Amino acid sequence: MATTVSFVFLRLLLCAYLLSLCLLCSLKNGYAFAEREYIETQEVKSDENHYYHHNSHTIQLNSLLQSPVCDPSTKASERKSSLKVIHRHGPCFKQNGDEANSPSHAEILLQDQARVNSIHSKLSKKSRQVDRKDAGGSTLPAKDGSSMGSGNYIVTVGLGTPKKSLSLIFDTGSDVTWTQCKPCVRYCYPQNDPIYDASASKTYTNVSCSSDMCDELESATGNSLGCASSTCLYGIKYGDNSFSIGFFGTDTLTITSADVFENFYFGCGQNNRGLFGKTAGLLGLGRNAVSVVSQTATKYKQFFSYCLPSSSSSTGHLTFGNSGGLSKSVKFTPLSAVTKDTSFYGLDIVGLSVGGQKLSISKSVFSNGAIIDSGTVITRLPPAAYSPLSTAFRKLMAAYPTAPALSILDTCYDFSNYTSIKVPKISLFFNGGVEVSIDVTGILYANSVSQVCLAMAANSDASDVAIFGNTQQKTIEVVYDSARGRVGFAPKGCS
Ligand SMILES: *[C@@H]1O[C@H](CO)[C@@H](O)[C@H](O)[C@H]1NC(C)=O
Ligand SMILES: *[C@@H]1O[C@H](CO)[C@@H](O)[C@H](O)[C@H]1NC(C)=O
Repeated sequence: MATTVSFVFLRLLLCAYLLSLCLLCSLKNGYAFAEREYIETQEVKSDENHYYHHNSHTIQLNSLLQSPVCDPSTKASERKSSLKVIHRHGPCFKQNGDEANSPSHAEILLQDQARVNSIHSKLSKKSRQVDRKDAGGSTLPAKDGSSMGSGNYIVTVGLGTPKKSLSLIFDTGSDVTWTQCKPCVRYCYPQNDPIYDASASKTYTNVSCSSDMCDELESATGNSLGCASSTCLYGIKYGDNSFSIGFFGTDTLTITSADVFENFYFGCGQNNRGLFGKTAGLLGLGRNAVSVVSQTATKYKQFFSYCLPSSSSSTGHLTFGNSGGLSKSVKFTPLSAVTKDTSFYGLDIVGLSVGGQKLSISKSVFSNGAIIDSGTVITRLPPAAYSPLSTAFRKLMAAYPTAPALSILDTCYDFSNYTSIKVPKISLFFNGGVEVSIDVTGILYANSVSQVCLAMAANSDASDVAIFGNTQQKTIEVVYDSARGRVGFAPKGCS
């Protein structure tokens, strides 16, 4: 009791002292502000919950739900060689009156699981062989692992001469860039942009079957479709049974007016079906020779970065090359060998923290490695890492009523009686002493205020690779520096 009284007395004294100090230097506003901050810090320290206070986020409930209005970030366009990134299910991508067709959260999570299953099957040692297929075949083998779901962030690039704008899903987990192409010999699904017409482009050429890039296709797609009167055919099938088949061609790719690439190899899709929304196709950012990263390597040195927007109603950026605007706080982790000879960017997760407390997880739990993927929505962890994460999260969230699981998400809450909530901070630790603090927008996945879930899940098999997914990458500047074998992270990448 006595100590409490004297503590309060000391604090009053300190306040009085600081107040007089503030009055004395009232002209120096900055100084006065620093003093005020000091007092506030002192008060927080006297709080029993001080530790948690500094290791949690306060979230306004209404910020968890998707805004119906596009609110673009104004700063993204200031970077060189930079494209605006939008979410394919958000209001910044016009659906042309087809909102009713946008998938439910449960459907999105189901498609996400299909992508994860195909990544796992692709990376599991047993299925790392390639299927050969008859020349001229227009059906794709339904081989598990040759494919995956397509991801959900969009950029707009130019193709052809004269240049036509195309909105493409970008994907660090695949290589071939393709777009739907007239005359759509078999089928083109409805898209927002006019369908690209190779015959209307002065610079389009078909790729011959004897070209080296035609050979590269096989390792990039896991399929060899052969030739149609000496034109190289490509075919990609995704885990959700979406596919694109067509002619392999080249044309001029325009990233920005100052970044134009002649003879860019891409798929001119003649039979395209599946869950691509109203996008015109896909931009492949993987590590194979046919990817846009490899094809632009002379200029950009296999270097690109992106920031995925905080919500589906705001915008981020995809920037090629390192023209100097990179945040000084980027921390790099080495690319790992787990993805050698695949499209994926492998790295090593070595630990997790929740509410500022490092979880005790044996190193061997992470020994199957991890990848970072722009197309997987929900981060997947080894079961023996997810379980203590979920337990620690539940403990710190014990004040809130729980809700039923949402598809693959099993740690859910009903916040209908709250206007604001407190959630623990979560960090992922990577090889090389790199801590990535998940942004407040990447911790929860909201179906509705009455069903808001921890946005991470366990792999079903302990031997599967972990995946650092795009929800947890939101607002982080993610830097891919393939030439130097590393991936980097910095906070606040979209501003
Ligand atoms: C490309 O090859 C296909 C198949 O042989 C052919 O139908 C098409 O006309 C060719 N396009 C051009 C521009 O040569
Ligand atoms: C919200 O508050 C109402 C009224 O107090 C109560 O009946 C209801 O059970 C609460 N809902 C939840 C999810 O806690």
